[in-house]
Amino acid sequence: MVKICCIGAGYVGGPTMAVIALKCPSIEVAVVDISVPRINAWNSDQLPIYEPGLDEVVKQCRGKNLFFSTDVEKHVAEADIVFVSVNTPTKTRGLGAGKAADLTYWESAARMIADVSKSDKIVVEKSTVPVKTAEAIEKILHHNSKGINFQILSNPEFLAEGTAIKDLFNPDRVLIGGRETPGGQKAIEALKDVYAHWVPEDRIIATNLWSAELSKLAANAFLAQRISSVNAMSALCEATGADVYQVSHAVGKDTRIGPKFLNASVGFGGSCFQKDILNLVYICECNGLPEVANYWKQVISMNDYQKNRFVNRVVSSMFNTVSGKKIAVLGFAFKKDTGDTRETPAIDVCKGLLGDKAFLSIYDPQVSGDQIQRDLSMNKFDWDHPLHLQPMSPTSVKQVSMTWDAYEATKDAHGICILTEWDEFKTLDYQKIYDNMQKPAYVFDGRNVVNVEKLREIGFIVYSIGKPL
Ligand code: NAD
Ligand code: UGA
Repeated sequence: MVKICCIGAGYVGGPTMAVIALKCPSIEVAVVDISVPRINAWNSDQLPIYEPGLDEVVKQCRGKNLFFSTDVEKHVAEADIVFVSVNTPTKTRGLGAGKAADLTYWESAARMIADVSKSDKIVVEKSTVPVKTAEAIEKILHHNSKGINFQILSNPEFLAEGTAIKDLFNPDRVLIGGRETPGGQKAIEALKDVYAHWVPEDRIIATNLWSAELSKLAANAFLAQRISSVNAMSALCEATGADVYQVSHAVGKDTRIGPKFLNASVGFGGSCFQKDILNLVYICECNGLPEVANYWKQVISMNDYQKNRFVNRVVSSMFNTVSGKKIAVLGFAFKKDTGDTRETPAIDVCKGLLGDKAFLSIYDPQVSGDQIQRDLSMNKFDWDHPLHLQPMSPTSVKQVSMTWDAYEATKDAHGICILTEWDEFKTLDYQKIYDNMQKPAYVFDGRNVVNVEKLREIGFIVYSIGKPL
């Protein structure tokens, strides 16, 4: 029986390994992590992450060929294939701070693999890493190998949160990069065999190591660039009377451009787009390519501009001050169908409104009050370090309250900011909400989920990204 071990039981490691276990009953999969609470949660009925369809997959395999454990060394020692899916956050200090990827967690995992291994292993980069990381990992493994043969592969993950299980069941492609040596090619074949249990062969792409590593950064940069492009257009739409929905529909009908990922928004969030583009920018700078670096940097600048623009719109619409006013925030997660708040645009928008002394009443169906307090009191980039290493903020942000109900959150509010596109926000009883709000009552829709005309008929003053005012 082939044994797989995955180091890192996070948003990628957990769902990816659960699907491998489900699709490959002949493979034993162990997911290990240094976080005791995380592993305990994976072994309980309350999984540590919310992801549609994940519970069913885990329930089907856990205890059969899927195991979650904190005994990292034992499972790594026993495995034939070791996936490393630890976090690769942005460095917060030292060389490259604020841009370069922090490979501390990766390096410590690699050193541990070298220490405990007694048999040959394929080590798979699942985390998103800078180009040439495999070379560094090879150095660590080979210098400590005691004669063991390690083959390094790059197998970046392309799943999106909220649709992780769907994406894993039916991936657009699986990318495997390896050394162009007989040993490297054999390792690629071994990993291909795993995916071939359910992924059609023509969707499994084999490349060299550096192409695989760079393709992941490039894919995220291209995706984020589309959002920044449509968001840039949204500002122009507001200035000219065009409607961004109509523009992106018309543009996306061109089969060369395509309709997906053209939704204007308050800005993109999530744990990876910004981090991976900053990482790409840093790599370009290190390779003496400042023009290329600046090109990609603009994708982030446009995203920051969009978030600021939204805050400015709220404040300027409400007579240039929100001081002392109650603003209801509907949605805090970085997108719908996830409880993940990493780098969510809601953090910047809330901080902007708090800076103008607003009182915030926040509701998100999947995000706890503790998490929101932690996010609002944390420094930029600190969020991406493991949860269990984050200190709980000693003081909570006083102007912020949380509710588990949209009607409660909006009661007596002067304005509403919709920051996540949860489906339930489309079907709220806006007449009831309007009746219970201060007047004039404002809605600032950062996700284009509400029916603008209908809300205006009720009496709301409505601002929707990229729509005529
Ligand atoms: P995560 O923070 O949810 O999970 C990482 C886990 O690794 C944590 O639970 C942490 O405790 C554990 N860990 C860190 N060092 C360890 C060590 N030495 N030994 C054992 N466990 C250790 O992160 P994530 O969202 O799963 O992302 C992991 C990687 O995958 C990142 O590089 C990210 O860029 C990439 N990625 C993420 C997504 C996504 O949707 N979240 C998608 C594609 C790629
Ligand atoms: C993204 C990529 O889609 C995945 O392919 C990739 O594997 C992953 O990053 C990663 O490397 O971490 P994710 O961040 O989970 O996945 O979610 P997306 O659906 O890409 O959304 C990212 C952000 O962009 C969200 O805030 C979303 O609301 C926003 N978005 C997305 C828009 O504002 N407009 C759109 O048209 C699409």
